[in-house]
Amino acid sequence: MSIEDDALIEAASEAREFAYAKYSGFRVGAAIVDEQDRVYTGCNVENAAYPLGTCAESGAIAAMIDAGGKRIVAIAVVGGTDTVTACTPCGGCRQRIREFADKDTRILVIDDSNKWHTYTIDELLPASFHLP
Ligand code: THU
Repeated sequence: MSIEDDALIEAASEAREFAYAKYSGFRVGAAIVDEQDRVYTGCNVENAAYPLGTCAESGAIAAMIDAGGKRIVAIAVVGGTDTVTACTPCGGCRQRIREFADKDTRILVIDDSNKWHTYTIDELLPASFHLP
């Protein structure tokens, strides 16, 4: 049985609690379920040298690869300053997700109206770059 989407969103919300967002104040959590139904989380980790900050998705992907996970079955991203607000993966993270996503990978994000949506990677990053 695969983990339900709302449980994945909850895991991302819990990871968001650990975000280190000292400079932007925008805290993000991400949770991935892999092909073995294992869950990995990450949060954004900012740095005084701003460009060195890392995104929540990046941390979750690194955790998956480090543990031997191969493919992203679903990923939830939860972000916001005080409360959870619109948070779609940034352009760079769309490319990072694309590396380990399949056509039917579910990408769960919240919009400006506080509604959850499920996207495919082709919707978020059409005509994406990949090596043959
Ligand atoms: N951020 C993420 O962690 N993931 C995204 O997809 C969007 C942006 C972080 C980066 C930075 O620490 C903060 O949110 C504000 O941009």
